[in-house]
Amino acid sequence: ANLLVLNGPNLNLLGTREPHIYGATTLDDIAANLQQQAQASGHRLESFQSNAEHELIGRIHRARDEQIDFILINPAAFTHTSVAIRDALAAVAIPFIEIHLSNVHQREPFRHHSYFSDLAVGVICGLGAQGYELALQAALRSLESDH
Ligand code: DQA
Repeated sequence: ANLLVLNGPNLNLLGTREPHIYGATTLDDIAANLQQQAQASGHRLESFQSNAEHELIGRIHRARDEQIDFILINPAAFTHTSVAIRDALAAVAIPFIEIHLSNVHQREPFRHHSYFSDLAVGVICGLGAQGYELALQAALRSLESDH
């Protein structure tokens, strides 16, 4: 299968960004680890990060042409603001899992609402970088059960 991992704004700073909240693992480490895990099970996985809403939307549109089967997305701050990215995911109708490194429900009230969660297959938050691995496992299992 073809999987796409999307990361939103400021996640390029992982490793140095508020490590007490987001951990010490860099985004490159997370992406490399996911790519290896997917490849080891015979799948293809690509990662894309952007600080720009329109680039994430464009990447989601292209995902449909590229026959991406599943998306793992940490929309970062766009989680709480972006009707446009939500609409892009709904438009391409590719199943996705929403990931947050931090437990957004333990944090400021403005982080408690997500424009994505009701459309997501599932949501993982508060487990740090491990959340991405768990999301990948869940995605692969759900793709296998589709066959
Ligand atoms: C985040 C949580 C968001 O509230 C925040 O804006 C982020 C990262 C997380 O991974 O915990 O940038 O999505």
